[in-house]
Amino acid sequence: MAAQGFRRTLIRNGAVGVGVGLALVLAARLTHFPAVFQIMFFVYALLGAGVFILLDAPSMKRLEGGRAVIGLVLFYLVLSGVYIGGASGLPQYDPEVEKGKIEKVLKARRARTRQGKADELIARARVLHERASAIERHLQALGGGAQVAEEVASVPASTAAAGDLFELGKEQWELQECYNCHKLFGKGGKKRGPQLDNIGNLMTPDALRQKILDPKSWMAEGFDKQYKKGKMPDKYKDLMFDEEIDALVVFLSSLKDATVETPTPIRMP
Ligand code: HEC
Repeated sequence: MAAQGFRRTLIRNGAVGVGVGLALVLAARLTHFPAVFQIMFFVYALLGAGVFILLDAPSMKRLEGGRAVIGLVLFYLVLSGVYIGGASGLPQYDPEVEKGKIEKVLKARRARTRQGKADELIARARVLHERASAIERHLQALGGGAQVAEEVASVPASTAAAGDLFELGKEQWELQECYNCHKLFGKGGKKRGPQLDNIGNLMTPDALRQKILDPKSWMAEGFDKQYKKGKMPDKYKDLMFDEEIDALVVFLSSLKDATVETPTPIRMP
């Protein structure tokens, strides 16, 4: 009798939980929540239904003495197992790794500001040097014969070493997190953009540069939907320096593994 009543509650509350869950997912979709959140809302609705089901559940037989202790321990073990298992199933981040990435991005920017200041000083020195030479010439024309030592301040050449563009480009691939959407060397691509292992055979360096600066300039064949939705972010022109884009293009141009199917890029108007 009680068991039958409980079965009815189980079905009714379960159905309400699923209904509420679906409504939440729909609302979350309409308001553009990411898929993870949609799943979480659904799970929460089911958990809620679970609580109501438990409240109506027929009471258990009372445990006493040693059995009560074993029951309690088992209960804790199962609960902890669910928590730990669930938490370790989520993506893990190592704060040190993330800090390292930020540091690398900032380093280029700091060096750049210093370089910018140095360039400005050098330009000013050059103007002063020219003015000094003009005065010297003027003095000579006046017949003073002043022998002003021609001290040409040797202007330091750009301090940036040529470096290994390929390695720098690979680093940009990591730092800009292209791997989130693009599978490469069999890794990454959780958000399902095209695999890029053969892109070096399909796009010229100029085309690659265009695609990074303006993702609407080219479309990967068969990715019409993602292209229209603007899945590939239009932010690299603001985030990256020219040299960084150059390096990334060198890296991408080297990707010529014809055994991996990379979609044909189509030039867009
Ligand atoms: C949020 C997801 C996302 C990120 C991040 C992303 N892309 Fe894309 N990318 C896409 C999608 C989706 C397409 C296919 C649709 C299109 O062509 O716009 C694409 C297309 C491309 C293509 C053309 C591929 C072909 O076969 O035509 C290249 C090249 C490319 N991306 C390079 C990059 C690089 C380099 C980065 C990092 C600086 C990057 N993408 C970051 C989603 C992304």
